[in-house]
Amino acid sequence: MSDTNATLKLDGKDTSLPVLSGSVGPDVVDIRKLYADTGAFTYDPGFTSTASCRSAITYIDGEEGVLLHRGYPIDQLAEQSSFTEVAYLLLHGELPTRDELDSFTYTISRHTMVHEQLATFFRGFRRDAHPMAIMCGVVGALSAFYHDSTDITDPKQRMIASHRLIAKMPTIAAMAYKYSIGQPFLYPDNTLSYTGNFLRMTFGVPAEHYEVNPILERAMDRIFILHADHEQNASTSTVRLAGSSGANPFACIAAGIACLWGPAHGGANEAALNMLREIGRPEHIPEYIARAKDKDDPFRLMGFGHRVYKNYDPRAKVMQQTAEEVLKELNISDPVLDTARELEQIALKDDYFIEKKLYPNVDFYSGVILNAIGFPSDMFTVLFALARTVGWVAQWNEMISDPEQKIGRPRQLYVGDTERQYVPVGSR
Ligand code: CMC
Repeated sequence: MSDTNATLKLDGKDTSLPVLSGSVGPDVVDIRKLYADTGAFTYDPGFTSTASCRSAITYIDGEEGVLLHRGYPIDQLAEQSSFTEVAYLLLHGELPTRDELDSFTYTISRHTMVHEQLATFFRGFRRDAHPMAIMCGVVGALSAFYHDSTDITDPKQRMIASHRLIAKMPTIAAMAYKYSIGQPFLYPDNTLSYTGNFLRMTFGVPAEHYEVNPILERAMDRIFILHADHEQNASTSTVRLAGSSGANPFACIAAGIACLWGPAHGGANEAALNMLREIGRPEHIPEYIARAKDKDDPFRLMGFGHRVYKNYDPRAKVMQQTAEEVLKELNISDPVLDTARELEQIALKDDYFIEKKLYPNVDFYSGVILNAIGFPSDMFTVLFALARTVGWVAQWNEMISDPEQKIGRPRQLYVGDTERQYVPVGSR
């Protein structure tokens, strides 16, 4: 447990607090008994200095720009692994053997279909609904269908719910897209890979054979790997908090999707491409840099900056390389990529961005690739949600099996009125 202690002096009384060490990373002051011992809380809005749990899934060193899943560097996984294998790794802690991978792939493929009645939920949405609005609603609705996998105290049922979520997300995401463009839904084809099947359900039509382009399949798979998990980010913490009350797993993932949608989080990929398009030509970049630096202007460079990374986001490096490769392979020249490259160069040399340690994050280049593959920008965050589902279910499983787990219940610094007497409306 703890070899050292920290001492807190409060109202003249010394309180000893254990200091915990992880396998790597900063030490953690254990304040669990602080309130009982001193009557004081800690204050940390935005959790900038708070570890909310123990976790053995993902490690980030923000100063060095390092991201490890179960110890494996993200660039190695992105280049050499597959999304399905990474999903297994995140869920089970070890890379699978060939047999384990085949069996996991088979299991996931057996859950790709959704209940036929689920299709009727889509019709309740307006055609122009944002696909993330559809995702929040339809994934939440899964909780009304799969009653045989909701005893969260049973590890087997938790794993079935996890497999269902991983397997059905591509189907639901593709349906959200098809609904928005008025094309029929396609059933999954389990002879294809996880990612190939998703591309077919998204871009294929029932009237024609769809040939999966291996370049796009590989690029899409790599994008999924890059988004699979990211430690205790806002949406993952939302899933954990929702799950801490014992809530239905499908509903917890819907809560994560809602949180991910915001432009400060997963919504930044859509916002970044829209921003790059708005900038249009490289000569307009200085104007946008000036706006980003102006304290009176709410504008921020989307796809730049990160709570944890104070160095280049390692995912952004792989993403940029993938963007260059995909556009080259497809023989597409996209002026948005030129604008992105130039914007990055200018920002990285600017004192404001240097001082605040603002670097491109995972969302900066992803839009360029997704656009080249053929996705409209409002689908970008849906793809993020599809991939992050793996991290969410891995973290949710870890939380439920943690003997230290309690319902999440933060406290507050109350600054409202103190007790006062009610005055009837006629006397006010
Ligand atoms: N453009 C201009 N200034 C920025 C930016 C930016 N993108 N990001 C941070 N800053 C400034 C901010 O104004 C603040 O300045 P000051 O100290 O003078 O008040 C300082 O840098 C620190 O920013 P913060 O908002 O206190 O930092 P945070 O850790 O709370 O926020 C962030 C992190 C990612 C929300 C923020 O950098 C941001 O809004 N970036 C743009 C949105 C974005 O790309 N989000 C995707 C994040 S990565 C993928 C994901 O999580 O889904």
